[in-house]
Amino acid sequence: MTGIPPGIFSLADHALHARQVLDANAQAYFNGGAADEITLRENLQAWQRLRLATRVLQPLAGGHTRVHLLGRTLAHPILVAPMAHQRLAHPDGERATALAAAALGAGLVLSTQASTPLEDAARLVLGEADRGPLWFQLYLQPDRGFTQALVQRAEAAGYEALVLTVDAPVSGVRDRERRTGFALPPGMGAVNLEGMTLPAPRPLQSGQSPLFDDLLTHAPTWDDIGWLRAITRLPVLLKGITHPLDARLALEHGAAGVIVSNHGGRTLDTLPPTAELLPDVVQALDGALPVLVDGGIRRGTDVLKAMALGASAVLVGRPIVHGLANAGAQGVAHVLRLLRDELEMAMALCGCRQLSDASSVLYRPARG
Ligand SMILES: Cc1cc2nc3c(=O)[nH]c(=O)nc-3n(C[C@H](O)[C@H](O)[C@H](O)COP(=O)(O)O)c2cc1C
Repeated sequence: MTGIPPGIFSLADHALHARQVLDANAQAYFNGGAADEITLRENLQAWQRLRLATRVLQPLAGGHTRVHLLGRTLAHPILVAPMAHQRLAHPDGERATALAAAALGAGLVLSTQASTPLEDAARLVLGEADRGPLWFQLYLQPDRGFTQALVQRAEAAGYEALVLTVDAPVSGVRDRERRTGFALPPGMGAVNLEGMTLPAPRPLQSGQSPLFDDLLTHAPTWDDIGWLRAITRLPVLLKGITHPLDARLALEHGAAGVIVSNHGGRTLDTLPPTAELLPDVVQALDGALPVLVDGGIRRGTDVLKAMALGASAVLVGRPIVHGLANAGAQGVAHVLRLLRDELEMAMALCGCRQLSDASSVLYRPARG
């Protein structure tokens, strides 16, 4: 057992300490974003900019953070976002994250590109009585037969929903990674994709684009949502929805929920921060589907603000990796504990007994 290093009292402290633990290669991968990292920075700032309103002397006894999501009651609305290659942060990787999430009642979304077999992570979570939901994040692979087999593995292992990531048909312009010369160390890779064959590159005519005329010919489209739903009994959530029209399309194509996400600022730079994108998506869906959100959530007050804007739950990314780097499973558990405690304190101080009443906690100045 490693124990939490002294002096860590917030997710920002975890981030700071992780800089001393992770090497430059891992830092570029985990902490970096796309291009000038404007979206990456603004994701945090947008939650910080929102102001809370407090009501005093409200009865608070019996208050709680419980929420309902996809037919389940969860102890709180915090899930671990899917993040690839977690063994780069700590030798225990996704196993530690899974254990900690289950112990803290947090949902776990395992990445397609996890560095741990999906069955191993599931086994650690499923035995925990008070665990949160267990979901598998899916990137549709060019080989649809392989994708189908992967989905069947996830179903057989006990995953309860698929989170199809739709915002990364190409990875972003990762300047920070390129400057550092980021590479996965030998022996580390996306173990759940082993055995997959990539399509041979297409011969291109002069003037053709390797992106549009080769790579993107395999990229999923709305038609593939129907295909995916037909091959699985699991609910499918779409991750990476930012446009209200896409939220409506998600509903029309039978998605079970959407996740408002700009991939933590790692794909398209200068996308607006998710705190700004969330309200329009919530409005477009008008309660027809649960709307989750991620990107820049670093405080319990951020969680409360997301719920006030109509989110059903939130996902947390990089802070989990920082906790993992700092103290393995204990570090991840500490990050989740801090967020939960902060959420409860924020609710109490706003006079909010339950998250279904959260819409009143945002400060909206009276217009004169
Ligand atoms: C290191 C890293 C790896 C990621 N890998 C994936 C992935 O494999 N699949 C995916 O859908 N999203 C991936 N994401 C995006 C996260 O799921 C999430 O959208 C984002 O991290 C949320 O922002 P935050 O880090 O500010 O909390 C990754 C993010 C990071 C930081």
